[in-house]
Amino acid sequence: MTDAPSSSELIDPQGRIIDYLRISVTDRCDLRCIYCMSEKMSFLPRAQLLTLEEIHRLARIFVEMGVGRIRITGGEPLVRRNVVSLIQRIGELPGLHTLCLTTNATQLPQHAEPLKSAGVSRVNISLDSLRPDRFRRITRNGDLNRVLRGIDAAIEAGFPRIKINAVILKGRNEDEVIDLARFALQRDLDISYIEEMPLGQIDDHDRAEAFCSSDEILERLQQAFSLQPCPGEGGGPSRYHAVDGYRARIGFISPHSHNFCASCNRVRLTATGRLLLCLGQEHSVELRPLLRAHPLDDEPVRQGIRDALRLKPAGHDFDLAGIPVIQRHMNATGG
Ligand code: 5AD
Ligand code: SF4
Repeated sequence: MTDAPSSSELIDPQGRIIDYLRISVTDRCDLRCIYCMSEKMSFLPRAQLLTLEEIHRLARIFVEMGVGRIRITGGEPLVRRNVVSLIQRIGELPGLHTLCLTTNATQLPQHAEPLKSAGVSRVNISLDSLRPDRFRRITRNGDLNRVLRGIDAAIEAGFPRIKINAVILKGRNEDEVIDLARFALQRDLDISYIEEMPLGQIDDHDRAEAFCSSDEILERLQQAFSLQPCPGEGGGPSRYHAVDGYRARIGFISPHSHNFCASCNRVRLTATGRLLLCLGQEHSVELRPLLRAHPLDDEPVRQGIRDALRLKPAGHDFDLAGIPVIQRHMNATGG
Protein backbone atom coordinates (compact mmCIF):
# COMPACT_ATOMS: atom_id res chain seq x y z
CA MET A 1 0.00 0.00 0.00
CA THR A 2 1.06 3.59 -0.54
CA ASP A 3 0.06 6.71 1.34
CA ALA A 4 -0.87 9.29 -1.27
CA PRO A 5 -4.30 9.07 -2.87
CA SER A 6 -3.85 8.40 -6.58
CA SER A 7 -5.76 10.06 -9.41
CA SER A 8 -8.31 7.79 -11.06
CA GLU A 9 -8.91 7.23 -14.74
CA LEU A 10 -12.37 6.01 -13.74
CA ILE A 11 -14.77 8.90 -14.28
CA ASP A 12 -18.47 8.41 -14.89
CA PRO A 13 -20.84 10.35 -17.19
CA GLN A 14 -21.78 12.64 -14.28
CA GLY A 15 -18.11 13.53 -13.82
CA ARG A 16 -17.89 11.62 -10.54
CA ILE A 17 -14.44 10.17 -9.89
CA ILE A 18 -14.63 6.50 -8.93
CA ASP A 19 -11.74 5.61 -6.65
CA TYR A 20 -13.46 3.16 -4.32
CA LEU A 21 -14.23 -0.51 -5.03
CA ARG A 22 -16.25 -2.80 -2.80
CA ILE A 23 -15.62 -6.48 -3.34
CA SER A 24 -18.12 -9.08 -2.14
CA VAL A 25 -16.18 -12.33 -1.75
CA THR A 26 -19.20 -14.51 -0.95
CA ASP A 27 -22.98 -14.20 -0.70
CA ARG A 28 -22.97 -16.66 2.23
CA CYS A 29 -23.28 -15.67 5.85
CA ASP A 30 -23.55 -17.40 9.22
CA LEU A 31 -26.35 -14.98 10.22
CA ARG A 32 -29.71 -14.26 8.58
CA CYS A 33 -30.50 -10.64 9.51
CA ILE A 34 -34.18 -9.92 8.97
CA TYR A 35 -33.61 -6.78 6.87
CA CYS A 36 -30.95 -8.43 4.72
CA MET A 37 -32.26 -11.93 3.97
CA SER A 38 -35.48 -13.86 3.83
CA GLU A 39 -35.78 -16.84 6.15
CA LYS A 40 -35.10 -19.39 3.42
CA MET A 41 -32.29 -18.14 1.26
CA SER A 42 -30.58 -20.06 -1.47
CA PHE A 43 -26.94 -19.27 -2.02
CA LEU A 44 -24.89 -19.30 -5.19
CA PRO A 45 -23.33 -22.58 -6.24
CA ARG A 46 -19.62 -22.34 -5.47
CA ALA A 47 -18.76 -22.96 -9.11
CA GLN A 48 -20.22 -19.56 -10.01
CA LEU A 49 -17.96 -17.62 -7.68
CA LEU A 50 -14.83 -15.90 -8.86
CA THR A 51 -11.75 -17.72 -7.62
CA LEU A 52 -9.55 -15.91 -5.11
CA GLU A 53 -7.00 -15.58 -7.92
CA GLU A 54 -9.58 -13.86 -10.15
CA ILE A 55 -10.63 -11.51 -7.35
CA HIS A 56 -7.01 -10.57 -6.80
CA ARG A 57 -6.49 -9.95 -10.51
CA LEU A 58 -9.50 -7.64 -10.67
CA ALA A 59 -8.42 -5.81 -7.52
CA ARG A 60 -4.99 -5.24 -9.07
CA ILE A 61 -6.50 -3.98 -12.34
CA PHE A 62 -8.83 -1.58 -10.53
CA VAL A 63 -5.95 -0.24 -8.42
CA GLU A 64 -3.84 0.24 -11.56
CA MET A 65 -6.74 2.22 -13.01
CA GLY A 66 -6.83 4.53 -10.01
CA VAL A 67 -8.87 2.89 -7.26
CA GLY A 68 -7.17 3.80 -3.97
CA ARG A 69 -9.62 2.29 -1.53
CA ILE A 70 -10.99 -1.26 -1.42
CA ARG A 71 -13.54 -2.68 0.99
CA ILE A 72 -13.89 -6.45 1.37
CA THR A 73 -17.46 -7.43 2.13
CA GLY A 74 -20.02 -10.23 1.64
CA GLY A 75 -22.36 -11.79 2.81
CA GLU A 76 -19.93 -12.38 5.60
CA PRO A 77 -16.49 -12.19 3.97
CA LEU A 78 -14.72 -14.15 6.72
CA VAL A 79 -16.73 -17.32 6.04
CA ARG A 80 -14.97 -17.73 2.69
CA ARG A 81 -12.06 -20.13 2.95
CA ASN A 82 -8.58 -18.55 2.69
CA VAL A 83 -9.99 -15.06 2.45
CA VAL A 84 -7.41 -13.70 4.88
CA SER A 85 -4.57 -14.60 2.51
CA LEU A 86 -6.46 -12.88 -0.33
CA ILE A 87 -6.86 -9.76 1.81
CA GLN A 88 -3.18 -9.86 2.63
CA ARG A 89 -2.25 -9.96 -1.06
CA ILE A 90 -4.66 -7.15 -1.89
CA GLY A 91 -3.07 -5.14 0.92
CA GLU A 92 0.27 -5.41 -0.86
CA LEU A 93 -0.94 -3.77 -4.09
CA PRO A 94 1.08 -0.62 -4.85
CA GLY A 95 -1.30 2.33 -5.23
CA LEU A 96 -3.86 1.14 -2.71
CA HIS A 97 -4.00 3.51 0.25
CA THR A 98 -6.96 2.21 2.29
CA LEU A 99 -8.11 -1.36 2.86
CA CYS A 100 -11.42 -1.80 4.68
CA LEU A 101 -13.54 -4.71 5.82
CA THR A 102 -17.24 -5.08 6.57
CA THR A 103 -18.03 -7.99 8.89
CA ASN A 104 -20.54 -9.27 11.42
CA ALA A 105 -17.60 -9.98 13.79
CA THR A 106 -18.43 -13.64 14.50
CA GLN A 107 -15.05 -14.77 13.09
CA LEU A 108 -12.98 -11.88 14.41
CA PRO A 109 -11.67 -13.65 17.53
CA GLN A 110 -9.47 -15.83 15.29
CA HIS A 111 -8.93 -13.39 12.39
CA ALA A 112 -8.55 -9.89 13.85
CA GLU A 113 -4.77 -10.11 14.35
CA PRO A 114 -3.88 -11.43 10.88
CA LEU A 115 -6.28 -8.91 9.28
CA LYS A 116 -4.56 -6.06 11.09
CA SER A 117 -1.17 -7.37 9.92
CA ALA A 118 -2.55 -7.61 6.37
CA GLY A 119 -3.01 -3.84 6.43
CA VAL A 120 -6.76 -3.59 7.05
CA SER A 121 -7.21 -0.16 8.58
CA ARG A 122 -10.98 0.23 8.81
CA VAL A 123 -13.43 -2.34 10.04
CA ASN A 124 -17.21 -1.87 9.95
CA ILE A 125 -19.07 -4.21 12.28
CA SER A 126 -22.84 -4.77 12.13
CA LEU A 127 -24.51 -4.66 15.54
CA ASP A 128 -28.22 -3.91 15.88
CA SER A 129 -28.97 -4.88 19.48
CA LEU A 130 -27.22 -5.36 22.81
CA ARG A 131 -29.90 -7.68 24.19
CA PRO A 132 -29.09 -11.35 23.58
CA ASP A 133 -32.70 -12.44 22.94
CA ARG A 134 -33.35 -9.58 20.59
CA PHE A 135 -30.03 -10.03 18.81
CA ARG A 136 -30.98 -13.67 18.26
CA ARG A 137 -34.34 -12.59 16.83
CA ILE A 138 -32.91 -9.91 14.49
CA THR A 139 -30.11 -12.14 13.17
CA ARG A 140 -32.25 -15.31 13.25
CA ASN A 141 -30.14 -17.22 15.73
CA GLY A 142 -26.97 -15.18 16.13
CA ASP A 143 -25.06 -15.28 19.40
CA LEU A 144 -24.52 -11.77 20.78
CA ASN A 145 -21.69 -12.86 23.07
CA ARG A 146 -19.71 -14.22 20.20
CA VAL A 147 -20.09 -10.92 18.34
CA LEU A 148 -19.07 -8.95 21.43
CA ARG A 149 -15.97 -11.14 21.69
CA GLY A 150 -15.27 -10.34 18.04
CA ILE A 151 -15.56 -6.61 18.74
CA ASP A 152 -13.17 -6.96 21.69
CA ALA A 153 -10.73 -8.82 19.46
CA ALA A 154 -10.88 -5.99 16.90
CA ILE A 155 -10.20 -3.39 19.60
CA GLU A 156 -7.36 -5.51 20.95
CA ALA A 157 -5.80 -5.86 17.48
CA GLY A 158 -5.65 -2.05 17.26
CA PHE A 159 -7.30 -1.24 13.93
CA PRO A 160 -6.98 2.52 13.34
CA ARG A 161 -10.73 2.83 12.84
CA ILE A 162 -13.62 0.61 13.87
CA LYS A 163 -17.21 1.58 13.17
CA ILE A 164 -20.41 -0.02 14.36
CA ASN A 165 -23.25 -0.15 11.79
CA ALA A 166 -26.78 -0.40 13.16
CA VAL A 167 -29.87 -0.77 10.99
CA ILE A 168 -32.74 0.71 13.01
CA LEU A 169 -36.27 -0.64 12.59
CA LYS A 170 -39.46 0.56 14.26
CA GLY A 171 -40.81 -1.94 16.74
CA ARG A 172 -37.55 -3.92 16.68
CA ASN A 173 -34.65 -1.91 18.04
CA GLU A 174 -35.44 1.80 17.81
CA ASP A 175 -35.53 1.94 21.62
CA GLU A 176 -31.84 0.89 21.70
CA VAL A 177 -30.49 3.84 19.77
CA ILE A 178 -28.99 5.49 22.86
CA ASP A 179 -27.65 2.24 24.36
CA LEU A 180 -25.90 1.39 21.10
CA ALA A 181 -24.35 4.88 20.96
CA ARG A 182 -23.08 4.55 24.57
CA PHE A 183 -21.66 1.12 23.81
CA ALA A 184 -19.72 2.49 20.82
CA LEU A 185 -18.63 5.85 22.21
CA GLN A 186 -17.38 4.40 25.50
CA ARG A 187 -15.12 2.09 23.50
CA ASP A 188 -13.99 4.94 21.22
CA LEU A 189 -15.75 3.37 18.22
CA ASP A 190 -17.71 5.37 15.63
CA ILE A 191 -21.30 4.33 15.03
CA SER A 192 -23.54 4.81 11.98
CA TYR A 193 -27.28 4.39 11.99
CA ILE A 194 -28.63 3.09 8.68
CA GLU A 195 -32.07 3.50 7.15
CA GLU A 196 -33.22 0.15 5.78
CA MET A 197 -33.01 -0.15 2.00
CA PRO A 198 -35.49 -2.12 -0.12
CA LEU A 199 -33.04 -4.69 -1.48
CA GLY A 200 -34.68 -8.04 -2.23
CA GLN A 201 -37.92 -9.58 -0.95
CA ILE A 202 -37.96 -10.21 2.77
CA ASP A 203 -40.63 -11.96 4.84
CA ASP A 204 -40.13 -10.64 8.36
CA HIS A 205 -41.66 -7.18 8.26
CA ASP A 206 -43.17 -4.54 6.05
CA ARG A 207 -40.32 -2.20 5.20
CA ALA A 208 -42.53 0.87 4.94
CA GLU A 209 -44.00 0.19 8.40
CA ALA A 210 -40.64 -0.50 10.02
CA PHE A 211 -39.01 2.59 8.51
CA CYS A 212 -37.25 4.75 11.06
CA SER A 213 -35.79 7.96 9.65
CA SER A 214 -32.39 9.32 10.58
CA ASP A 215 -34.08 12.48 11.87
CA GLU A 216 -36.11 10.43 14.38
CA ILE A 217 -32.94 8.68 15.51
CA LEU A 218 -31.13 11.99 15.84
CA GLU A 219 -33.95 13.34 17.98
CA ARG A 220 -33.67 10.35 20.32
CA LEU A 221 -29.91 10.76 20.58
CA GLN A 222 -30.23 14.43 21.43
CA GLN A 223 -32.00 13.42 24.63
CA ALA A 224 -28.76 11.86 25.86
CA PHE A 225 -25.92 13.58 23.97
CA SER A 226 -24.94 16.98 22.66
CA LEU A 227 -24.25 16.60 18.92
CA GLN A 228 -22.68 18.96 16.38
CA PRO A 229 -22.76 18.16 12.66
CA CYS A 230 -19.33 17.92 11.01
CA PRO A 231 -20.10 18.63 7.36
CA GLY A 232 -18.08 17.13 4.55
CA GLU A 233 -16.30 14.54 6.71
CA GLY A 234 -15.92 10.87 6.01
CA GLY A 235 -15.86 10.75 2.20
CA GLY A 236 -18.86 8.41 2.12
CA PRO A 237 -22.60 8.44 2.61
CA SER A 238 -22.40 8.80 6.42
CA ARG A 239 -23.22 12.31 7.70
CA TYR A 240 -21.17 12.63 10.88
CA HIS A 241 -21.79 14.42 14.14
CA ALA A 242 -19.27 15.15 16.86
CA VAL A 243 -20.39 14.21 20.36
CA ASP A 244 -19.53 16.35 23.39
CA GLY A 245 -17.21 14.46 25.71
CA TYR A 246 -16.20 11.75 23.20
CA ARG A 247 -13.65 11.44 20.43
CA ALA A 248 -15.69 8.96 18.36
CA ARG A 249 -18.49 10.22 16.13
CA ILE A 250 -22.06 9.35 15.31
CA GLY A 251 -23.05 9.03 11.64
CA PHE A 252 -26.25 8.62 9.69
CA ILE A 253 -26.64 6.73 6.44
CA SER A 254 -29.92 7.97 5.06
CA PRO A 255 -30.65 6.64 1.57
CA HIS A 256 -34.26 7.78 1.88
CA SER A 257 -34.20 11.03 3.81
CA HIS A 258 -30.84 12.46 2.60
CA ASN A 259 -29.94 11.01 -0.75
CA PHE A 260 -26.14 10.86 -1.15
CA CYS A 261 -25.88 9.83 -4.83
CA ALA A 262 -24.39 13.12 -6.09
CA SER A 263 -21.12 12.40 -4.31
CA CYS A 264 -20.99 8.68 -5.09
CA ASN A 265 -17.39 7.55 -5.61
CA ARG A 266 -17.79 3.78 -5.69
CA VAL A 267 -18.68 0.66 -7.66
CA ARG A 268 -19.29 -2.88 -6.41
CA LEU A 269 -18.01 -6.25 -7.55
CA THR A 270 -20.25 -9.19 -6.66
CA ALA A 271 -18.90 -12.62 -5.75
CA THR A 272 -19.73 -13.86 -9.28
CA GLY A 273 -17.82 -11.03 -10.95
CA ARG A 274 -20.73 -8.78 -11.83
CA LEU A 275 -19.70 -5.14 -11.64
CA LEU A 276 -22.61 -3.19 -10.18
CA LEU A 277 -22.54 0.50 -10.93
CA CYS A 278 -25.10 1.44 -8.26
CA LEU A 279 -26.40 -0.20 -5.10
CA GLY A 280 -29.97 0.71 -5.98
CA GLN A 281 -30.05 -0.06 -9.72
CA GLU A 282 -29.41 -3.08 -11.92
CA HIS A 283 -26.93 -1.42 -14.31
CA SER A 284 -24.03 -3.82 -14.43
CA VAL A 285 -21.48 -5.66 -16.53
CA GLU A 286 -20.32 -9.28 -16.13
CA LEU A 287 -16.54 -9.27 -15.82
CA ARG A 288 -16.08 -13.01 -15.28
CA PRO A 289 -16.41 -13.96 -18.98
CA LEU A 290 -13.85 -11.29 -19.86
CA LEU A 291 -11.44 -12.55 -17.21
CA ARG A 292 -11.74 -16.12 -18.43
CA ALA A 293 -11.52 -15.24 -22.13
CA HIS A 294 -8.32 -13.24 -21.55
CA PRO A 295 -6.35 -14.92 -18.79
CA LEU A 296 -3.05 -13.31 -19.80
CA ASP A 297 -4.13 -9.97 -21.26
CA ASP A 298 -5.58 -7.33 -18.94
CA GLU A 299 -6.44 -4.78 -21.63
CA PRO A 300 -9.83 -6.29 -22.63
CA VAL A 301 -10.75 -6.39 -18.95
CA ARG A 302 -9.75 -2.75 -18.52
CA GLN A 303 -11.82 -1.84 -21.57
CA GLY A 304 -14.77 -3.73 -20.07
CA ILE A 305 -14.42 -1.68 -16.89
CA ARG A 306 -14.20 1.61 -18.82
CA ASP A 307 -17.31 0.64 -20.81
CA ALA A 308 -19.13 -0.31 -17.61
CA LEU A 309 -18.46 3.07 -16.04
CA ARG A 310 -20.44 4.70 -18.83
CA LEU A 311 -23.51 2.89 -17.48
CA LYS A 312 -23.29 4.34 -13.98
CA PRO A 313 -26.70 5.86 -13.26
CA ALA A 314 -27.12 9.25 -11.61
CA GLY A 315 -28.75 7.75 -8.53
CA HIS A 316 -31.05 5.19 -6.93
CA ASP A 317 -34.87 5.39 -6.88
CA PHE A 318 -35.63 3.62 -3.62
CA ASP A 319 -39.31 3.32 -2.79
CA LEU A 320 -40.35 1.43 0.33
CA ALA A 321 -43.92 0.78 -0.76
CA GLY A 322 -44.81 -2.29 -2.83
CA ILE A 323 -42.55 -4.94 -4.31
CA PRO A 324 -38.87 -3.98 -4.27
CA VAL A 325 -37.63 -3.02 -7.70
CA ILE A 326 -34.26 -4.51 -6.85
CA GLN A 327 -34.60 -8.28 -6.40
CA ARG A 328 -31.02 -8.65 -5.26
CA HIS A 329 -30.55 -8.95 -1.47
CA MET A 330 -27.80 -7.06 0.33
CA ASN A 331 -25.81 -10.26 0.85
CA ALA A 332 -25.58 -10.66 -2.94
CA THR A 333 -24.72 -7.00 -3.41
CA GLY A 334 -21.92 -6.20 -1.02
CA GLY A 335 -22.71 -3.62 1.66
N1 5AD B 1 -30.80 -1.99 4.27
C1 5AD B 1 -29.84 -1.31 4.95
N2 5AD B 1 -28.73 -1.88 5.43
C2 5AD B 1 -28.57 -3.19 5.22
N3 5AD B 1 -27.60 -4.02 5.58
C3 5AD B 1 -27.89 -5.25 5.12
N4 5AD B 1 -29.08 -5.25 4.48
C4 5AD B 1 -29.52 -3.96 4.52
C5 5AD B 1 -30.68 -3.31 4.04
N5 5AD B 1 -31.64 -3.96 3.36
C6 5AD B 1 -26.42 -3.54 6.33
C7 5AD B 1 -25.82 -4.50 7.30
C8 5AD B 1 -24.36 -4.11 7.32
C9 5AD B 1 -24.17 -3.29 6.09
C10 5AD B 1 -23.15 -3.84 5.19
O1 5AD B 1 -25.41 -3.26 5.42
O2 5AD B 1 -26.33 -4.38 8.58
O3 5AD B 1 -24.04 -3.33 8.43
FE1 SF4 C 1 -25.10 -11.57 7.24
FE2 SF4 C 1 -24.54 -8.95 7.18
FE3 SF4 C 1 -26.71 -9.90 5.91
FE4 SF4 C 1 -26.63 -9.90 8.58
S1 SF4 C 1 -26.59 -8.09 7.24
S2 SF4 C 1 -27.32 -11.61 7.25
S3 SF4 C 1 -24.52 -10.29 8.99
S4 SF4 C 1 -24.62 -10.36 5.40
